[in-house]
Amino acid sequence: MKQNAFYAQSGGMTAVINASACGVLETARKHKNRIGKVFAGRNGIIGALTEDMLDTSKESAATIAALRHTPGGAFGSARYKLKGLDENRAEYERLIEVFKAHDIGFFFYNGGGDSMDTAHKVSQISRKLKFPVICIGIPKTVDNDLPVTDVCPGFGSVAKYVAVSTREVALDVASMAKTSTKVFILEVMGRHAGWIAAASALAGQTAADAPHIILFPEVPFDETRFLARVKECVRRYDYCVVVVAEGTRDTDGRFIAETGTRDAFGHAQLGGAAPMIAKLAKDRLGHKVHYAIADYLQRSARHIASKVDVEQAYAVGKKAVELALQGQNAVMPTIVRKSQRPYRWTVGQVMLSRIANREKMMPKGFISRDGFGVTAACRRYLEPLIRGEDYPPYHNGLPRYAKLRHVPVAPKLRKDFVLK
Ligand code: F6P
Repeated sequence: MKQNAFYAQSGGMTAVINASACGVLETARKHKNRIGKVFAGRNGIIGALTEDMLDTSKESAATIAALRHTPGGAFGSARYKLKGLDENRAEYERLIEVFKAHDIGFFFYNGGGDSMDTAHKVSQISRKLKFPVICIGIPKTVDNDLPVTDVCPGFGSVAKYVAVSTREVALDVASMAKTSTKVFILEVMGRHAGWIAAASALAGQTAADAPHIILFPEVPFDETRFLARVKECVRRYDYCVVVVAEGTRDTDGRFIAETGTRDAFGHAQLGGAAPMIAKLAKDRLGHKVHYAIADYLQRSARHIASKVDVEQAYAVGKKAVELALQGQNAVMPTIVRKSQRPYRWTVGQVMLSRIANREKMMPKGFISRDGFGVTAACRRYLEPLIRGEDYPPYHNGLPRYAKLRHVPVAPKLRKDFVLK
């Protein structure tokens, strides 16, 4: 039997989420006897609920191929929480109504932990509502906090960006240190888990190399110890480079920087740890300080993406379609590390029920005893993930990214559905 498929991107972007989209779409196109068309949700799951879908069959093979090297989310994403069936049955009924109207038998949801939970719920509910849909989660998150999978596609590239930037900025600060800036602070993402901050450690090899201090969400921020360490670094090396995770918390468990905004999942919007730390170093130690908040730059930096990451992102998209065609349901492809040296990996799978609502923090054995750096085991884990370059094509000095036609799918249902 041949049915259509629905693909949506969800949550924050990565430099390689479109490589997963490319994997899904290219693989689906190879199985035209089983998968009719792939419709993409405009702005993620909202596109399904509002029957606002894009017909990917109208995009050329060249455009789909170019998604592999294009950052951002090709069809738009959303932070939109589908509540439980009891709380909002109408929303699920609407989703299934849209799937029925467009003969959608496959649901591919490309996102992080919250999205895996949604995909899991949709698979359960579609059965209850007597229109079973095969639901496959496709892992993606720069935060690298999904359990079971060895790494989350998106992380390797942000890790490479942060490691490269830390190495480069350190050369600049070192040059200025005698007469000017002594402390540089880079704020990176990671609200609960310090994987991205940890990756900055790859920039240096010895204690003298930057980053000299890493602040993790997993380690309570102790102002006195931190200032003492900055002072010591400046004394020894003339300068100090600090990498701080946005989710760093104080000893009372409060984020050191919270903007006050919350998303649909109740997550606080973070940002501002770097200026807060910078002020501390300036006021208390009297140093000239510069800081940067990598923010969206770090997760959109496709020009410096990790080749390994791009390959893994594509592979999980491809595998998602293969699993669906095997009739597997409520599963997520995973990256399995087969060997460390040489680094070899393959794609496995896990039930979504084992992923939903679980976060993978940095293990204790990955953070150094003093809490300001990483261990050799952590380095061994991180090193292969940033390997290789996969530059996009350039034209007139700028990367040439995919431009989609975004042809809408003609709606078939009533237009009065209102998002809650
Ligand atoms: O998707 C993960 C993430 O990149 C976090 O690290 C960051 O805190 C958050 O998204 C930012 O979310 P938003 O783009 O919705 O503000």
